[in-house]
Amino acid sequence: MEQHTISDRESAVEASGEAESRDALRARFDAVREATEALVSPLSPEDQNLQSMPEVSPAKWHRAHTTWFFETFVLERFDPGYRAFDPAFAELFNSYYNGVGRQYPRPERALLSRPGSEEIGRYRESVEHAVHRFIERADSSRFTDAASVIELGLHHEQQHQELILTDLKHAFSYNPLAPRLGSADQAGNHAAEATAFIDFPAGTTGIGADGSAFCFDNETPRHPALLANDFKLANRPVNCGEFLEFIADGGYTEPRLWLSDGWTWVRENDIEAPLYWRREDGEWRIDTLAGRRAPDLAEPVCHVSFYEAHAFAEWAGCRLPTEFEWERAAAQRSVVGHFADSGRFHPAAPAGANGLSALFGDVWEWTASPYAPYPGFKPAAGAIGEYNGKFMANQMVLRGGSCATPPGHVRATYRNFFYPPDRWQFSGLRLAKDA
Ligand SMILES: [Fe+2]
Repeated sequence: MEQHTISDRESAVEASGEAESRDALRARFDAVREATEALVSPLSPEDQNLQSMPEVSPAKWHRAHTTWFFETFVLERFDPGYRAFDPAFAELFNSYYNGVGRQYPRPERALLSRPGSEEIGRYRESVEHAVHRFIERADSSRFTDAASVIELGLHHEQQHQELILTDLKHAFSYNPLAPRLGSADQAGNHAAEATAFIDFPAGTTGIGADGSAFCFDNETPRHPALLANDFKLANRPVNCGEFLEFIADGGYTEPRLWLSDGWTWVRENDIEAPLYWRREDGEWRIDTLAGRRAPDLAEPVCHVSFYEAHAFAEWAGCRLPTEFEWERAAAQRSVVGHFADSGRFHPAAPAGANGLSALFGDVWEWTASPYAPYPGFKPAAGAIGEYNGKFMANQMVLRGGSCATPPGHVRATYRNFFYPPDRWQFSGLRLAKDA
């Protein structure tokens, strides 16, 4: 009988653990990549090339850019035998990483009629095969080094899946035919529930990710934060019925409710309602990815800017929660809610909520917190350190994910960030007040 030493057994256990982690990573890689393709499968090549403003990108570009991310940060860094699918793509599909070279101008991405959507499909397949080969054959130390970057690439691709939906919604809103992506949005006319407020005590609370599972660098380091006062948080996001009352009460015409920048934004852009709201024959209609319809009074209002969220909170005699208050309320709660897997792609009226509801999913919730580094924050070394850290100026934090966020993507510590006037994301708000 063959004799094994303890170290033989240990390395056999390590090897089988590593084989399992390779299999698990490959399965997750395939699932995320397939989800992107499933999302764009109803789109024509013309749909895939739409770009309606500089902030959005064509669906075809998102498909290529997420592929470029794996090619640039995994294959070219960790696989010495890898040859680029097409070296010209390095510039076309680099979004903002100065550390790896030049970038094609963002506002002009729709001018890239070529490569066409079919060729992008071949690019995706080619890089997928190369990543499969790498996961299967890379030696142990290369695999270990690359695995966390592959994981980052998958979370990155999920972020772009959400952007494919929000960017397409923006482009479709210009088409009088009101094109649909899904048909699962069931319009309703639920009675709006009264808001209830939940009490939270003042005190020191742990904020940020503890490193036990995947997180983005901007969620670290975990640190104590002081919540100076007792506070209250609304049991649900603000709904369309309440927002209609704000509009009817002259909310958009009362400068005292608005931040100075917000009031300038309202006047310069003739803002009178959330994005995608339009008045037809005296009635408000909203765009959803399943077509145009009346707003459901009980569904969370979405596509509001930080300025609108702030003004509404003022009008309601409340305020926006800080991101620390939000995280204090969300910590330890299960991440359940309406995410993109429902195919509805629109927030839903809460179903008889007890306590806090819809913290996760439905709408990203604007907070009163500027997007800033946590104490001791250090971006990753190299070009990948450009992922989050360099955007920490002039943006506000949103929490909780939306109806366009892939399930499993968000968590209590997740920080999204947008500029105060941005409103093409599924952004809404939840009220807070001092106790
Ligand atoms: Fe990206």
